[in-house]
Amino acid sequence: MRHAAPLEAFERANRAFFAARIGDRGDDFFSRFHLHLAERVAENASGRSLLCVVVDAAGEIVARVNLIDIDQPEPTELGYRVAEAAQGRGIATWGVTSALDLAAGRGVPRVHAKVATTNPASRRVLQHCGFALVGPTDPPTGSSKTFLSYGRDL
Ligand SMILES: CC(C)(COP(=O)(O)OP(=O)(O)OC[C@H]1O[C@@H](n2cnc3c(N)ncnc32)[C@H](O)[C@@H]1OP(=O)(O)O)[C@@H](O)C(=O)NCCC(=O)NCCS
Repeated sequence: MRHAAPLEAFERANRAFFAARIGDRGDDFFSRFHLHLAERVAENASGRSLLCVVVDAAGEIVARVNLIDIDQPEPTELGYRVAEAAQGRGIATWGVTSALDLAAGRGVPRVHAKVATTNPASRRVLQHCGFALVGPTDPPTGSSKTFLSYGRDL
């Protein structure tokens, strides 16, 4: 839990930025942050998921990269987010590439990602990281945007 305080600071400082782009995590996530984090840490420790943070030289978290269900029969799902102040420096591309290398080392065969057509920066990250466009896919619950599915074999 050594990243707990910087992780909470990262989520709070960038809440509005992320909410405007991919939707808000909700008040419950922030009011019970430590409970949610403990669940994710347990998931990580059990090897079910691979949850990564990118930390800068000052010890601040500048990005998160999550791979969910790496040990399940369901497809492994990729998610990522970069701090507003750290945009456009290649951090997402580096973080996703590094997380994929870790996942490949754990035998994950294939990774999927879902991205809105209104999120060109994220689509560019996926292209940089070797993902291929699969086709249209259902939006997440509550979203009316058009989503695309991408995949990459590791
Ligand atoms: C998408 C996101 C992760 C990108 O992070 P980042 O660290 O800035 O990404 P990178 O610097 O590695 O790469 C971004 C690429 O998108 C490009 N880009 C940025 N804005 C763009 C735009 N409006 N249109 C087209 N391309 C754009 C950049 O030029 C760069 O491509 P390049 O290297 O070929 O020049 C970040 O904006 C973010 O956290 N957004 C909110 C959360 C999110 O969307 N997560 C992904 C959900 S699928």
